[in-house]
Amino acid sequence: MPYPAPSHHRTERLDQDYDGIRRAARLLRQGGLVAFGTETVYGLGGLATSQRTVEHIFRAKGRPSFNPLISHFASAEAAFAEADMAIPLRDMAHALAQRFWPGPLTLILPRHAESRICRAVTAGLATLAVRVPKGRAVEELLRLTGEPIAAPSANRSGRVSPSTARHVLDELEGRIDAVLDTGPCTVGLESTVLDLTGPQPVLRRPGGVTLEELQDVCGPIIVAEHETAEDGTTRPNAPGQLSSHYAPSLPVRLDATHIKPGEAFLTFDNQKAEGPHPDLTLNLSPDGNVEEAARRLFASLRQLDQAAIRQGLTGIAVAPLPEAGLGRALKDRLKRAAAPRPTDQTSPPT
Ligand code: TXA
Ligand code: MG
Repeated sequence: MPYPAPSHHRTERLDQDYDGIRRAARLLRQGGLVAFGTETVYGLGGLATSQRTVEHIFRAKGRPSFNPLISHFASAEAAFAEADMAIPLRDMAHALAQRFWPGPLTLILPRHAESRICRAVTAGLATLAVRVPKGRAVEELLRLTGEPIAAPSANRSGRVSPSTARHVLDELEGRIDAVLDTGPCTVGLESTVLDLTGPQPVLRRPGGVTLEELQDVCGPIIVAEHETAEDGTTRPNAPGQLSSHYAPSLPVRLDATHIKPGEAFLTFDNQKAEGPHPDLTLNLSPDGNVEEAARRLFASLRQLDQAAIRQGLTGIAVAPLPEAGLGRALKDRLKRAAAPRPTDQTSPPT
């Protein structure tokens, strides 16, 4: 492990009432680490302007320091104040913000030379990832805090992103100051990462806003396939880091209609499969609703991980899923979250 464990003692569990949100904001302003729910997944937040706090975030997660973080803001104005945008770019960024913020979209923008976002957040890059998340409690929290909040997904590096406060505590209890329990996340998959720093927009990570919705606003978008690693890293893999905290992860077989021995079945709609373990079937959405499937995906993967330990599973067969819309992000996460990990691990997760 490249990072020693931070020496916290107790993680406060805060309710999303006035007192809870105020307490969370206070802890954040003091430089503490507070996890909170957004519409996508739970984030592990800290002041984006404090180098020391941001180092604590990386340490609590066990995240390699070269993988940059998203900064969260209460408004588009606050977010864009950190960026350096000339005219065509500024118009596009404003149009996207107008349509999708608050919401599950992250924009990569050129960093303003005088931005207060510290270097640890951007991993030294000349670019900046910004977003305005949606949700009554998180919006209130960001307003009360009044500072940009850096927040990666609140999981240990290499694990599935958390969609409930319970998931966060399972991963980070004792390593962070508090978790604000804002209930289960309503989207369930991370934000879409759209890179606006080149001549044409590039989709770096499919997510809660679909490619089709984005094209509606910005026209043609280049899709950077295969750029993402295990839990959403958009940078090329670099050798060297090894985390010993992987959840058991099973190989995923997509578009499956039969179950092989040792496989659990993750299905969708009314698809049934023949095979030896009908009891190990989870249905992401019996009604064939892709939004519901997205909401349930990460919790289902956690459940299958536990079943893998108990019952010695060797893989997950996944029924055919819709290709369009949120289906793209679903498939991306399925491939990455449970892809087999070599024992001589050379590529870092985040
Ligand atoms: O929905 C989300 O985006 C959640 C919630 C908490 O907001 N956050 C999240 O953060 O998923 P994280 O750290 O797990 O993923 C952030 C992604 C990573 O793939 C990172 O490489 C990319 O954003 N990223 C951040 N800054 C970047 C930059 N300047 N250029 C390219 N990619 C960047
Ligand atoms: Mg993540």
